[in-house]
Amino acid sequence: MVLSRVVEVRRFERVGAHSHIKGLGLKDGKALPIAAGMVGQVEAREAAGVIVSMVREGKMAGRAVLLAGPPGTGKTALASAIAKELGEDVPFMMITASEVYSAEVKKTEVLMQAMRKAIGVRIKEVRKIYEGMITELEIKAGRHPYNPYQQIPIGAKIKLKTNVDERSFNVDEAVAQELIARGVSKGDVIWIDAETGRVTKLGKCIEAPAEARYDIEASPRIPLPQGPIAKEREFVHTVTLHDLDEMHARRGSVFTLLFGGREEREIPPEVRQEVDETVKRWVDEGRAEVIPGVLFIDEVSALDIEAFSFLGRAMEGELAPVIILATNRGVTKVRGTDIVSPHGIPLDLLDRLLIITTREYTADEVKEILKIRAAEEGVDLEEDALSVLIKVGVENSLRYAVQLLSPSFEIAKRSGRSKVTAVDVEQAKKLFVDVKQSMAYLKEYEEKLLR
Ligand SMILES: Nc1ncnc2c1ncn2[C@@H]1O[C@H](COP(=O)(O)OP(=O)(O)O)[C@@H](O)[C@H]1O
Ligand SMILES: [Mg+2]
Repeated sequence: MVLSRVVEVRRFERVGAHSHIKGLGLKDGKALPIAAGMVGQVEAREAAGVIVSMVREGKMAGRAVLLAGPPGTGKTALASAIAKELGEDVPFMMITASEVYSAEVKKTEVLMQAMRKAIGVRIKEVRKIYEGMITELEIKAGRHPYNPYQQIPIGAKIKLKTNVDERSFNVDEAVAQELIARGVSKGDVIWIDAETGRVTKLGKCIEAPAEARYDIEASPRIPLPQGPIAKEREFVHTVTLHDLDEMHARRGSVFTLLFGGREEREIPPEVRQEVDETVKRWVDEGRAEVIPGVLFIDEVSALDIEAFSFLGRAMEGELAPVIILATNRGVTKVRGTDIVSPHGIPLDLLDRLLIITTREYTADEVKEILKIRAAEEGVDLEEDALSVLIKVGVENSLRYAVQLLSPSFEIAKRSGRSKVTAVDVEQAKKLFVDVKQSMAYLKEYEEKLLR
């Protein structure tokens, strides 16, 4: 259980390295030199734009994309940009081929879970709520049942107002706690879910009474709600097929009742079948929408023949995400066979791939990318620091240059500077080597041991 949490954290960080990418930065299909956080790589971005159109028109079924290019040329960045272009809540799931083999879970199960994490289900729900601006709020406190020295909320009296309606409610302990937890006060516009008592605070009302306006700058200003207080509202939340699998698999298990954790590592096929059927029914009833996302598999040459044939079959499936593969390997053996093939990918799969290549960046492009990343991470660079980093980006790798930003900033701060200088970058370079250097070091060390 702890392990899976670690994996998730790492995944989050990896996405973090691309947080400046907001889209492909295209205009009428043409790549703008710098846009949406993207710099250069013009042909690849335009090709990616074509993929986005094909996905929208449903023409990617049974096909996948391969991004081929040297390390640090923006393959992952491009894949995340494609997901962003497809829509705000379109899932983007990223795995590295070697992860498929790491866990004690079957490799096809890992791939299947990854596929289902890349398919979103947008669920629409109409709920009855009470909406209004709070004109009166009185929390009633009582004694804690087990600790007589402590007071706890046992209920609340609350008055809500709209332009045409005003009503008082006596709410129970659960709602009172919600009100406290959300930091709700007089003059706020809130929703109370009629069934669950969940409270949503929208912000301070522009028509809040004078004495309740002290925090008006701090929270969003909301107009006075219109119409009756009791109304129906549509809520939309997006979950993934995998979330639904887990919820469904968990139900009724003694383990989860006792510990609340997830014990099952593999999800039985029946569960997935039932989830699929339920989702299809929801879609038919107009309550849900399926939104295929992007499954990005990095270092795909490390997959073996069985994993490839699983992918090939899955691509044909009814509920399949857009699959984007990436590699920096040329001709190599398909794992698990003696067959040599481009990128180590079996020929029948290669036939179904649209291949996009990425090329190395010029010094100017590296400079622009570093400037964007520095702004994203809140790092201020002196001109000389930027020059050193550009050199690193061109001579070593862009990724290494990007990674040096934070440590350089830490080093600058230690010396009492708020802006990073060339000295700080040089220091960071000494403390943190790039992959080539660390490999060379270990190789040398191994040779010494052999002697
Ligand atoms: N064209 C680009 N525009 C903006 N940022 C980029 C671009 N290409 C790469 N980056 C950024 O540079 C870093 C390294 O690129 P990455 O996508 O990890 O390369 P790859 O996946 O090919 O190894 C990442 O932080 C990435 O977001
Ligand atoms: Mg990458």
